[in-house]
Amino acid sequence: MSDSPHSIQFVDTADDVVRVVQLTDTHLCRARGGTLLGMDTDHSLQAVIDLVKAERADAHLLLGTGDLADGGARPAYDRLQVYFDQLTADNYWLPGNHDCREAMTAAASRPNRLCREIRISRWQLLLLDSQVPGKVGGTLGEDELAWLERALQAAQEHALHTLVCLHHQPVAVGCSWLDEQKVSDAEAFFAVLDRFAGVRAVLWGHVHQEIDRQRNGVRLLASPSTCVQFAPGSENFKVDDQPPGYRWLELHGDGRIETAVSRVRGVHFQVELDSGGYL
Ligand SMILES: [Fe+2]
Repeated sequence: MSDSPHSIQFVDTADDVVRVVQLTDTHLCRARGGTLLGMDTDHSLQAVIDLVKAERADAHLLLGTGDLADGGARPAYDRLQVYFDQLTADNYWLPGNHDCREAMTAAASRPNRLCREIRISRWQLLLLDSQVPGKVGGTLGEDELAWLERALQAAQEHALHTLVCLHHQPVAVGCSWLDEQKVSDAEAFFAVLDRFAGVRAVLWGHVHQEIDRQRNGVRLLASPSTCVQFAPGSENFKVDDQPPGYRWLELHGDGRIETAVSRVRGVHFQVELDSGGYL
């Protein structure tokens, strides 16, 4: 959906294993201390950042996979940059349905913060834009899919493994209310992926819950939000009592992926468990 030019961000490392941290759906409000469904999203993000510092301080890359600000306000992205800069990992952002690309771009401390392709060691990471301004659900669109195909072709020529990242889920996750919002052209998306054997995983946010599946040998991964979680298997909107968390990934030179979710323990977070809606 983006018309930003295609530029590749090359990240140097002598390591064979690329260490990635995904922080998603941070939902920062305009002012510090704002809440989502009763939870202070600044407080929960700082708790997750503290956990990453303790567990994954040596990560190469930090990926923010959308809904970084709850209402797309510039001050939220300014604070996001300060939070992410507490970690030494290079951080990159892609937009979710709650985000404003212009405000993200203006706030990013480096113009390549919103780059769409990263190459590091034997890996290519692609950051797709599934946002449709004004809509909750996701669509990639013909231009984005054509770009994806060209990028995967280039990866194949360089014998790189690929991790594809986006905000919305490309498969049904089992929550009826969320699955109405899945990527509308997911069939075309997978038709492209199926043509390239180097695609190892697809990673997304939006669903505020952990998913780890396989499709045609490709790992399908979703991750908890750094704030409020949604209950797996729910027909209607339902908040879960799971704590905030993040996903780490280790991308090996032979294409293997090790990954898991880690959650904040021992910290109390206020949340409205009986809330009936989410804007
Ligand atoms: Fe979200």
